[in-house]
Amino acid sequence: MFDNVFILNDWMSRFAMDYPALPVDAKRFPPGFVFGSATSSHQIEGSWEADGRGASWWDHFALEPGRIADGSTAAVACDHYRRWEADVALLAALRQAAYRFSIAWSRVLPSGTGPVNPAGLDFYERLVDGLLARGIKPMATLYHWDLPQALAERGAWQNRDTAERFAEFAQAVVQRLGDRVWRWSTLNEPRCSAYVGHLEGRHAPGLKDLGCTLRAAHHLLLAHARALACLRSHDPRLSVGIVLDLKPFQAASSSPQDQQAAWRGDGIFNRWFLDALFKGAYPQDIAQAYEPFMPAIEAGDLRDIAAPIDHLGINYYTRSVVEEAPGQAYPHLCELRQAHAHHSTMGWEDCPAGLLETLRRVHRDYAPKALYLAENGCAEPDVVAPDGRVHDAARLRYLAGHLDACAQAIDEGIPLDAYLHWSFLDNFEWGRGYTQRFGLVHMNYATQQRTPKNSALAYRDFIARHAG
Ligand code: FCB
Repeated sequence: MFDNVFILNDWMSRFAMDYPALPVDAKRFPPGFVFGSATSSHQIEGSWEADGRGASWWDHFALEPGRIADGSTAAVACDHYRRWEADVALLAALRQAAYRFSIAWSRVLPSGTGPVNPAGLDFYERLVDGLLARGIKPMATLYHWDLPQALAERGAWQNRDTAERFAEFAQAVVQRLGDRVWRWSTLNEPRCSAYVGHLEGRHAPGLKDLGCTLRAAHHLLLAHARALACLRSHDPRLSVGIVLDLKPFQAASSSPQDQQAAWRGDGIFNRWFLDALFKGAYPQDIAQAYEPFMPAIEAGDLRDIAAPIDHLGINYYTRSVVEEAPGQAYPHLCELRQAHAHHSTMGWEDCPAGLLETLRRVHRDYAPKALYLAENGCAEPDVVAPDGRVHDAARLRYLAGHLDACAQAIDEGIPLDAYLHWSFLDNFEWGRGYTQRFGLVHMNYATQQRTPKNSALAYRDFIARHAG
C-alpha cells in the first residue's frame, strides 16, 4: 500500500552519490558491531483507535491546552501503525542492522491490566517478523513513556502497584515475542519519566513536585526489577537491560563551589539511577539532601533493582557545564551555554567529547557487561530543498563526531557493541510537538512522504563500508 522503497530507489538514482560522505573510518569498528536507528511507539504510530488500543496518558496530556508547543497531538504522527511495512523496507534500504522500537502498553493491555488484546500483540509480531525477514535485529523497549490512561487514573507511577501491572504487561509481550527479539529493554530513561513528568511538568502527567518525582523514580525502577524478573523466568537466555539518559556535568571553573555543583548535578541525573541499578543503593549525598522527600523504600527493593542485567543502553545527546547558583533551589546550580559551540534546535550543544567521557565513566565505575548507544542524534531545521534533497550538514557533523567517540571508546577496550541513531524518522517530539526534526528521514506530515536526508544516505554508505 505504501511504498517508501520506490521513493528511495527513485531518489537514489537521481542523486547517486551526490551527497557528502560520513568522514569516519568504518573499519575502526569491529565486524560484529551493530548500526541502526530508533523510534518509540507514541512518537510515530498514530492510529489511537485501531484494533482495540486503549488510551495512553500522553493522548490525554497532549489534548490539555498549552501542553504541546505547536498544539499538536500524536494521533497521526508518522502513521507508522498503518505504514510499518514500507517503513521496514525503508530501514532495510538504509542498511540498518538493528531497529529499536517500543511497545505501546495500551495496545496490549488496553486497561493497563486484565485482558490481553491479541490484535495489539499481532501488530508487534508482524513488525518483528518483518524486521527479521529483512535481516534487521529487533530491539524492543517495553516502556517508552506511554502509560495506559486507565493506570494513570489509578495513580500512575505514584502507585506502587503500577510496577506489578508492568510485570503483567511484560509477561504478555514476552510470551508472544520472547524468542525473536534480539535485545529487550525494560524502561526508556526513568530519569526523564520521573523528573520531566513530575518536577519540570513538561511531560505527562505535568506535575511539579519533588516528592512525586522521587516516588515515581523509585516505582519505575521497581517496575524495571519486576519486568526483568519476569523475562528471566520466562527464558533465562533472553538478553535484557535498561536504557538510561546520561550526560557529564562539568564544572565551569576549578573552584570547589563549581566542582561541588557539578557533582550534585551528576548525582541527581546520573548516579541516582546508575548506583541503584549497579550498586543497589541510592547515592548518600543526594538521598541526604532529599531526606524530607524520600519515598517509602521496602526491604528488598534495592536488591531487586540491582539484579544483574545483560546490557546498558545509553541515550547521549549533550553535556552540561554548570556553576554554583546559591540562590537557586537544590542542587543550587545553573547551566551555562557555550557561546562558540553548535546547538541543535533543542538548544543542546553538539559535544562528542562528552560521549567519550560518559562511556569511560560508566565502564570504569559500573562496568556493565555490554554497552550500546540506544539513542544519539540532533534536531535541526531540516527542509526539503528545491532540488528535492535535505542538506542536513549539521547532522552529518554530529553523527561523525559521535561515531568517532564510539570508535575511540572501542579502541580503549570499552565493551560498546551497537549504535542506534535517534531517530529513524522525524516524529512527535513530546512537549515540542512536531517542531523538532531528529530523523535520518524527513517527514512531510501533510502528505506522509518520507525523504531520506543526506545524513541517512551517508550513514547507509558508511554501514555498507563497515560490512565490506
Ligand atoms: C529522549 C527520548 C526520545 C526523544 C529524544 C530526543 O529523551 O527518549 O523519545 O524524545 O530524547
